[in-house]
Parts: sequence; C-alpha cells; structure tokens
Amino acid sequence: MVSQVHLGHIFHIAGSPATGDAADALVEIPDGALIIDAGGRIAYCGARSDIPAAYRDEEVFDHRPGFLLPGFIDTHIHFPQTFAGDAYGGGQLLEWLELCIYPAESRYAEPEFARLAATEFCARRIAAGTTAAMVFGSAFPHAQDALFTETRRRGLRMVSGRGIQTTGEPSAAPLITSEDDAIRLTSEEIDKWHASDTGDVDTALLHVAIVPRFSLAVTRRTLKNLGELYDSVRERGVYFHSHLNENNRPGTGEVDATKQAYGVATYLDTYDGKFLPGSAVGGKSLLGRRSILAHCVHCQDVELRRMAETGTSVAHCPVSQQFLGSGTMPWQRTLASGVTVAAGTDYGGGDEWLIPQVLSAAFKVHISEPGEPGVSMHPAEMLFTGTLAGARALDMENRFGNFDVGKEADFLVVEPARVPALDGTLAHGTRSEDPTLARDQTLFALLMGIRESAIAEVYVQGRRIDVR
Ligand code: GUN
Ligand code: ZN
Repeated sequence: MVSQVHLGHIFHIAGSPATGDAADALVEIPDGALIIDAGGRIAYCGARSDIPAAYRDEEVFDHRPGFLLPGFIDTHIHFPQTFAGDAYGGGQLLEWLELCIYPAESRYAEPEFARLAATEFCARRIAAGTTAAMVFGSAFPHAQDALFTETRRRGLRMVSGRGIQTTGEPSAAPLITSEDDAIRLTSEEIDKWHASDTGDVDTALLHVAIVPRFSLAVTRRTLKNLGELYDSVRERGVYFHSHLNENNRPGTGEVDATKQAYGVATYLDTYDGKFLPGSAVGGKSLLGRRSILAHCVHCQDVELRRMAETGTSVAHCPVSQQFLGSGTMPWQRTLASGVTVAAGTDYGGGDEWLIPQVLSAAFKVHISEPGEPGVSMHPAEMLFTGTLAGARALDMENRFGNFDVGKEADFLVVEPARVPALDGTLAHGTRSEDPTLARDQTLFALLMGIRESAIAEVYVQGRRIDVR
C-alpha cells in the first residue's frame, strides 16, 4: 500500500478525554486532509493548506464536500439475530427471547443458513460504517467459523465468542450444551480464532470473547468453570461479554429473576465470582478491562462502582431498550461512576444497524429523563460514544477510534448528497454566529441525519472495504 491523501470535512475526538470532556477534544477541520501512510496508519490530520511537503505528491482522494469520520464502533450486536430484527411475539425481554429469538437463533444449526447469515451480517455492518464490533456469537461452532471467516475476508475488526447456554426454556434447547461442552467449545474457539489473522493480539483484527448469554441461561457451575477458563486466558487478551440489568418488568423482569435464582445482592455479583447464595464467593471474577456488559439500565451504585474499579465497560443500547420496553439507562449517574459508556445497536433487540441511530436514540431518551437527570447530550459526547469510547471499551484505544497521528486508519467517507434530507439540513440549516456553536450544530445535524446510504466509503487500517 502507498500513502494516501484524503480530502474532506473532518470531525473527530482527539486525545483520550473522558465523556464529559469530549467537547473540548472535538476537532473540526472543514477543509481537511487525512493522510494515511503505507502501513495504514494516520500520518497527518489537519488543514489541506498545511499538508507536509513530504506528502504533496501522493495520490489524492478528493471527497469534498463530503465528511471524513472515524469508523463507528458497535460494542454489542448479535450475529445470530441477523434476520431477527423487528421480531414480534408480544411481551418484553424474557417472552421475546423465548418466543422469537431462541427459535431464530436455532436456525443457525444449518451450516448453509449460518453462512448466508455471516455474509449478510458483515454486509450490513459495512453498510453501516461499523469498522469494529463486539459481536455476541452463535451457539454453533460452524456458525462462528463462518462469521470469523467472512469477517477476515471483508477485512473488518471483530471481537466475538459463541453464546454459551447451559440451561433454559424448551425453545432454547438447540442452543443449550452440557457443562463440559460449554467449556470445551469455548476454549476451542479461543485456540482457533483468537488473533488468528496475525498471530499477535496487539496487531490482530480478530479476537475472541467468552460470552455466557446472561446469568439466567447458565448455571453456577458454568460460571465457576468460565471463571477458571477466563483466568487462564486473560493474559492472552481474551474478552468477556454478556448482558447486565437490562429489563426489570414487574413479575417477569430479568433483573429480579436473576437475583432470585442466584440469591445474590446484585446481578453483577454473578459475573464477579460471587454467585453463591448471599453473594458468597464461589469462583473467579469475569470482570476487567476487556469486559463489556450490555445495557446496565437498572444498576445499583455499588455495581457501577465495581465496574469502574475493574475497568469493565457498558455497552449502551437505547434503541433496543425502547424496542423491548427496558427503560432508560441513567446517563449522568452512570457516567459519574467513572465507567466507560460506549454505544451498541444490540441488533436484533435493536432494529437499527447504524450507530448514529443509536446516538440519536440516546439523545432523545436522555433529554427525556425526568427532572434533574434529563440532559441534552453534547454532539461531541455523541461522536465520542460512537467512536473513541468504543475503542476504549474494547481496550484498543491505543490502536484506533480517532485520527491521532500513529493510529490505525479506520475511517468513513460520508456523502450527505446521497441523503436529501441530510443534505438539505447541512446546506440550509440555520447556524449560530458563534463559530463553536455553529460547529456543534453541524456535527449534530450530521450525526442525527446520517443514514446508511450516506456512507460512501469504509476503510480499516487504511484499506478500502467494498461497501456495496
Ligand atoms: N439477554 C439475554 N439474551 C439477550 C438477547 O439476545 N438480547 C437482549 N437484548 N438481551 C438478552
Ligand atoms: Zn443483547
């Protein structure tokens, strides 16, 4: 690969700010140049007029008046629900899982169907500009093989692991394995796919996670065994991923059902080695810097504190929370605990593949939180949550997530002209006289108005991926 000069209107969050400091870290370069070196790293991000002399003769890709943004990062999405978006069966989370999702996921038992789904899943991800993702995997190893194979073929980043279930309803029977198989299949997946593309966890695009579906789908014995397994592979950079405190519908909610089933003080205890009655320690913790828990709508302060202390991150999925009636994660209280909050589509619990649509939902639900907690998210916080925070949650902030020089070049070309409503808002929307507010207004309009069809080009490590 030779160096490339891309011209366009740049937005990114520079450095390594906390969410609340994202506005100060927001960089806008209206007539910008992004230069990628031959190794696929950012060599320059700045004004077109200041391109360093060394790059003035390189090949130029002129995307003006388009935008250049960091690739979006989806920290929670379900591969076996590729065709299960907008599934209707009545009821909230637990009924929806039983009626719609377990049967849909069971179809991946058929290898041909799983391959079709892997192709479609990667295509949808690319169309949505999702360059990196934490992917909740299928129970079936052949389906995971298809997913990793297609992800590598397309050149995307991914962390994924097979969904582990060792107990559950009759409709989940095809997804449930014995205790021994749960551990064996998970270790085999780690050995086969973790950093398989480069052989080095620090340069790999592919990583593996240990993914129990949620505490209600496994037993104490599974959690104990997974704790031992995780302890033995942590140093290899393996991840942990699951759901936490998602739905608390009175009578049929997952949160109370979990606390009752395990007899624990907090849901988080079940992932923290404290899964015996009274939250007594029964095994090793699954929490840490490479652990991401989806939803966290109904956390107690003590849970948020423990997540912050261990470096465990939150995948915030407001589109899904609306779809399943799960409530609203308290934005300010969650951030105040110090945990990293990144964005997740939770497709097919969510019915959008596009991270900016998750950010749009976040804006709408958090401005609607009653009383003091209600907040109008800053557009820089939105961009941060959908990009750099995702890289941080994946513990790869040193590699990608923004356009700091030296980072691997994951970026998107956005052409507003492909979406007339977005184009109109950007061209004719009223902007403040104050340049800072005008900048924020433009970014807000862009994030709220982007649709898949506006995403013209997608790059990972400076390599262009075929979008359509
Ligand atoms: N909790 C356990 N499984 C699931 C799932 O597939 N989707 C969501 N949203 N929550 C879950
Ligand atoms: Zn989910």
